[in-house]
Amino acid sequence: MAEYDLVIEGGTVVTPSDMFRADVGIAHGKIQAVGLGLKGTRTLDARGRLVMPGGVDTHCHIEQLREDGTTDEETFVTGSTSALAGGTTSVITFSTQFKGHGISAPLAEYRRLAAKSMVDYSFHQIITDASDDVIFREVPEVVASGVRSLKVFLTYDPLHLDDRQFLRVLAAARRTGALVTVHCENYEAIRWRIAALLADGRTGPKYHAWSRPSMVEREAAHRAIALAEMVDQPIQIFHVSCPEVAEEIERAQRRGVKVWGETCPQYFVLSSAHMDRPGFEGAKFMCSPAPRDEAASEGLWEEVRRGTLDVISSDHSGYGYDSPRGKRAHGDNAPFNDIPNGVPGLGSRLPIVFSEGVSKGRIDACEFVRLTSSNPARLFGLHPRKGTIAPGADADLVVWDAEKRVTITNDLLQHVIDYTPYDGLEVTGWPVATVRRGEIVMRDGKVQAEPGSGQFLAREPYAMIRPTGRLPDGFDASAFLV
Ligand code: URP
Ligand code: ZN
Ligand code: ZN
Repeated sequence: MAEYDLVIEGGTVVTPSDMFRADVGIAHGKIQAVGLGLKGTRTLDARGRLVMPGGVDTHCHIEQLREDGTTDEETFVTGSTSALAGGTTSVITFSTQFKGHGISAPLAEYRRLAAKSMVDYSFHQIITDASDDVIFREVPEVVASGVRSLKVFLTYDPLHLDDRQFLRVLAAARRTGALVTVHCENYEAIRWRIAALLADGRTGPKYHAWSRPSMVEREAAHRAIALAEMVDQPIQIFHVSCPEVAEEIERAQRRGVKVWGETCPQYFVLSSAHMDRPGFEGAKFMCSPAPRDEAASEGLWEEVRRGTLDVISSDHSGYGYDSPRGKRAHGDNAPFNDIPNGVPGLGSRLPIVFSEGVSKGRIDACEFVRLTSSNPARLFGLHPRKGTIAPGADADLVVWDAEKRVTITNDLLQHVIDYTPYDGLEVTGWPVATVRRGEIVMRDGKVQAEPGSGQFLAREPYAMIRPTGRLPDGFDASAFLV
């Protein structure tokens, strides 16, 4: 007699620590059993395939609100479609703040948009203006509502925070029990470089990389870590582009500082040379920090293997190339500093990391699962519901053909964006089915899920991001109230 609603049959189950042949028995949207000979009302044949936890992408810009009242082009429906096509079942996206305004109202509006999601979702709360009302009244409310991570930018007009404002955010996070994620680049150094390049008539996309060399990222990462260490507040450094930045993280980790590092597929397969394509084409590869060179990419893999960088997310930017809301927003001849930063990557994240990592022998499949699913789930308080294959976890799974060779084209990714920076990239390994809370939502590239069927993931307090308790002299409770 069938005991389960669905059994994924005969695959090789990959957990964060082991690989073994087993069936996965699912009922009521949860994994009930991992074993042999399980019987289900329905079955999904996984013979010859890997069965891994669904991807958890903790850094995606989807339908993000803009100050002019519009949003990114990628909606929660199209973004979910791309995520499910690529084997990702949970995302964390960004609720914004506009300088001079609060955070609760945009969050309420963003929650309304996200209600159409087909993947499970949570939010980071961006802070661009650390006013008293935001820091002391709104942040505690927002964090208590389950938005348990704050995001700050140390560069970009008009988003960046100065050091004092950054400290106020760190202190607010410590008081309320949230993680802080940080975009690390030195604001003034970049502005100074931009001014020099523009004055010299160097305006094309390739000068984007010249305006922000690795030192501006390394300096800001060092400073972010020092300030977080002073306040004893755990942080994650976003989108590490090169080993020099990872070394800053590693040194701090050795001192016992709670700092984690994220990197993204673009830093493994793109380089500054891509931005030197003829005409405006280079804009397709512009993101910040800027992709570096092959040596940096190989060095990043080493930092991944050492465990310094333990999360690989997409930093999916939800806008296109030819569209008026995208790279050409300021025209075809816009100088590099007026071209929106960011590249799409939600649907291509898992195939690129699997191919460059597992298929090329740099990491094993368990490490792949840790980097793309379990570690992000743990760090952001979603584990053990997400990121593992164990009884009681949500039945979020991807069935993976490790041998399948695919040449990436934009159509395969199923996002609304009109390009991919990975067009023509050959990968080995591709998702053939995605299961979200027990429902088969993608099979052979065909996504079938109801808009609105994704669930909001409210994140409760969790041990991993508790402060260490080590503070400099004089840091009693009053130190955090200014
Ligand atoms: O260039 C990037 N990374 N754009 C997205 C926004 C951000 O900085 O994360
Ligand atoms: Zn960033
Ligand atoms: Zn980002």
